[in-house]
Amino acid sequence: FDKSQSVFLFSLPFFIMKMIFQLTSVPSGGIMVSRDELNFYIMNLTHIEHLGIAVKSIEEALPYYEEVLGLKCYSVEEVADQKVKTAFFKVGQTKIELLEPTSEDSTIAKFIEKRGEGIHHIAFAVDGVADALAEVESKGVRLIDKAPRKGAEGLNIAFLHPKSTCSVLTELCEDPNKK
Ligand code: CO
Repeated sequence: FDKSQSVFLFSLPFFIMKMIFQLTSVPSGGIMVSRDELNFYIMNLTHIEHLGIAVKSIEEALPYYEEVLGLKCYSVEEVADQKVKTAFFKVGQTKIELLEPTSEDSTIAKFIEKRGEGIHHIAFAVDGVADALAEVESKGVRLIDKAPRKGAEGLNIAFLHPKSTCSVLTELCEDPNKK
């Protein structure tokens, strides 16, 4: 062998190992994207799961959503650890989630106090919420939830910090019963 051949033969096993590692390390649900010859994993958002809207009172908001917009409230649920009561409406495959604080120290109560009633967060449905969280964190995004937790409707959810999301409180969620 001459010098260049031996360099090639020496590096071949490492190259093969790197290929195998790349092929096996794609997290579930995501897609591989090729950009500038660089392959990287990017999460697969499927749709806007819901919009969270902060209201002082679900009861007072209901007539607008039901009688004006013609939506049907199909579920009212209290999420104790978030100190909120939620009401859900469906618009296509997206939901509207009204959030009413059940305590003065609820984050929703503080939001309303500071900014008034209105859109509180956007929630994207994603395939593989834990992998998606790890991915956004590796890209420097500040997380509110380091790991997914249980949200309303039994979804696995996690919030990203608005400081890292152009000031829009962003939720990633996954339906564990899907698939
Ligand atoms: Co939400």
